[in-house]
Amino acid sequence: MRRSRGRQILALVAALTVVGTPTALVAGAADGAAASADPCAAWMDPSDSAARRADALVAAMTQDQKLHMLTFGDPPWFAYWGTAGHVDGIPELCIPDLVLSDAGSGVAGLQIATTVFPSGVAQAATWDRGLQRRIGSTIGAEAFAKGINVMLGPGMNIARTPYNGRNFEYFGEDPYLASRTAVSVIEGIQSHPVLADAKHYAFNNQETDRMTVDVRVDERTRREIYLPAFEAAVKKADVGSVMCSYNRVGGTYACENPELLTGYLRDDWGFDGFVVSDWGAVHSTAPSARAGLDLEMHAFAAGVPATPVTGSAGRYFGADQLQAAVDDGQLRQARIDGMVRNIVRPMFEHGLFDDPVSPGAEPFLSDVSTPEHLAVARRAAADATVMLKNRDRLLPLRPVEGGRTIAVIGWAANPVGAANAVSGGGSSHGSGLPPRVVSPLEGITSAALERGDRVVYVEGSNVVDARAAAAAADVVVVVATDGSSEGTDRADLGLRPAACLTVFCQAIPIEQEDMIAAATAANPDTVVVLDVGAPVRMPWLPDAGAVLVPWYGGLQHGNALADVLYGVREPGGRLPQTFPVDEAQHPFKPEEYPGVGGKESYDEGLLVGYRWYDATGTRPLFPFGYGLGYTTFGFRDLAVRPTAGGARVSFVVRNTGRRTGAVVPQLYLSAPKRAGEPPRQLKGFTKLTLKPGESRRVSLALDRRAFSVWSTRRDRWVVVPGTYGVAVGTSSRDLVLRGRLAR
Ligand code: GLC
Repeated sequence: MRRSRGRQILALVAALTVVGTPTALVAGAADGAAASADPCAAWMDPSDSAARRADALVAAMTQDQKLHMLTFGDPPWFAYWGTAGHVDGIPELCIPDLVLSDAGSGVAGLQIATTVFPSGVAQAATWDRGLQRRIGSTIGAEAFAKGINVMLGPGMNIARTPYNGRNFEYFGEDPYLASRTAVSVIEGIQSHPVLADAKHYAFNNQETDRMTVDVRVDERTRREIYLPAFEAAVKKADVGSVMCSYNRVGGTYACENPELLTGYLRDDWGFDGFVVSDWGAVHSTAPSARAGLDLEMHAFAAGVPATPVTGSAGRYFGADQLQAAVDDGQLRQARIDGMVRNIVRPMFEHGLFDDPVSPGAEPFLSDVSTPEHLAVARRAAADATVMLKNRDRLLPLRPVEGGRTIAVIGWAANPVGAANAVSGGGSSHGSGLPPRVVSPLEGITSAALERGDRVVYVEGSNVVDARAAAAAADVVVVVATDGSSEGTDRADLGLRPAACLTVFCQAIPIEQEDMIAAATAANPDTVVVLDVGAPVRMPWLPDAGAVLVPWYGGLQHGNALADVLYGVREPGGRLPQTFPVDEAQHPFKPEEYPGVGGKESYDEGLLVGYRWYDATGTRPLFPFGYGLGYTTFGFRDLAVRPTAGGARVSFVVRNTGRRTGAVVPQLYLSAPKRAGEPPRQLKGFTKLTLKPGESRRVSLALDRRAFSVWSTRRDRWVVVPGTYGVAVGTSSRDLVLRGRLAR
């Protein structure tokens, strides 16, 4: 859609009033109407390449206009229609506003009347790339409708420990799963005139000391574990922007780190979008610009003290600051031009010029959470739910003569609790205002009434009440939550609810483990529901009848939970992160996490998540990739065939149960010993639904990278020759087909 007639006239009037700038327009007025028809003609032809359009625009810009593009506009942060940040457009150049908002589970921050989707870890838990793309596309549609054209997500940092307060926003512990999920979500968001943003680049795997911690991680571990998701976002999803993180890497802040912002990103991966800082993550003018930072963002305009909460002291990319750096030779003009080009090129490429947004009261107040979007959120919440236990097929709940009594227990089950547990804390928190989250209690009650079941509710922090209600019921659904949040790490694997006021969440003292223990001890037919963002310990597990992990399920959590309980939909999730037995099982030395003297050393190297459990022969509570459904599957006929660049692995999957169900076949590769790799690594997966008795041959392709390791000696990827183990199964520990391949 071209710019509206009104905007064209506005641009024309603006251009005509520009004094002292001999634009093509003014010169053209004397010699012909054509040139004056559109002052932006040189760069507003949608059929032209983004690169050419960007070059033409930059060539037409004054220095002031260029410098204007490189830092956040006033008022900053939420004061601009509830968004995280913006750069005012330049109408005379047809440059639209650049409006940035959070984030991974929907249009969040101080936005209202948007859909809150299941959080990042839940999106990964679906292992369903089509659904992830759908979620991304729905988020992109709502962003555009809200007058936003940069979504500050997805976050894709690897879950190195279970304690990171932002694990809920990210895609788990494995680089292959995180990469595929990131690509799918980005493709969805960018199917609209909205840019996605790969964050937080890079090695931002804790919150305790996030603003200043200096991360030390060896090159091979960087390349094989922590960078692949960002590399895929750039090379496979053409992400429009990357957000450099707060922390230091090897002694240099990420936002002024040439190795990160130019070496990996531009030189190795060919990134052609822009690098935007995290809010308050800039600590210099010329060094940051020279390193590869293009756009500065901060929550505060100027003159705030640098603190561990607010970040740096204020603006570093102001026009005067940048011009002074050019004037005194610290910064080349060519770099300034390049920074502007890096910003406008993806804007051209992804339609932001041709379909500009207009933030304002109308979009801010509009309700963009349509029934179709809520249906996507409901389906995603069920398909992300991981069922960890289902003793004697307690679930799904089958019809009983005369109905049954269901006791629903827990603060997190009621509307107040559910509104707080709708998503994790911090910038990505979807407030769900106006309140429209469907709580577990509401969802279960409406589903139960349709089936002639009865529901009683107790809040449950008084374990006597919890025990009595459980004992008196036919089935119990006890709901608990752990309030993970940006800005703070988890103290342990316990369950600590949080109360949230928009993006600010605070842990509140509601005891839940005793509540769960009381309910499961009082009634064997107890379903434990964990609304969490990361692994939790389960001392009550032996007594539980069933365990469901819906993560932070978004606005439709209650309906999706009822769909799963009654079998309308299956619990379609599989774990994107290993669940330890307890805190003692996978310890971290202080210098490894959260660091000592401001330095954090990733001494474990490649042994992250299941890689560590496999290498140490440790049995976790639940392994990576694990999850139960409502039917069963058999695998047979493994065939492994070498191809030009890698291999093709195929096998037959059969639904051996009595109901239609989904299965997530996972392919793990074991490199030859001398490769020095972890015992096995995820290199392929798919998700398919089969009817009872139906069989299908699945074929997964392995590319050259699947057989490669990063050679620090040769500074590139190298294929290690030898015999590879090929294993297929339903989790990293349930591998039922095994083969070998010589490379
Ligand atoms: C925050 C977060 C980042 C977010 C940004 C804008 O500090 O680290 O994820 O996108 O600021 O809210």
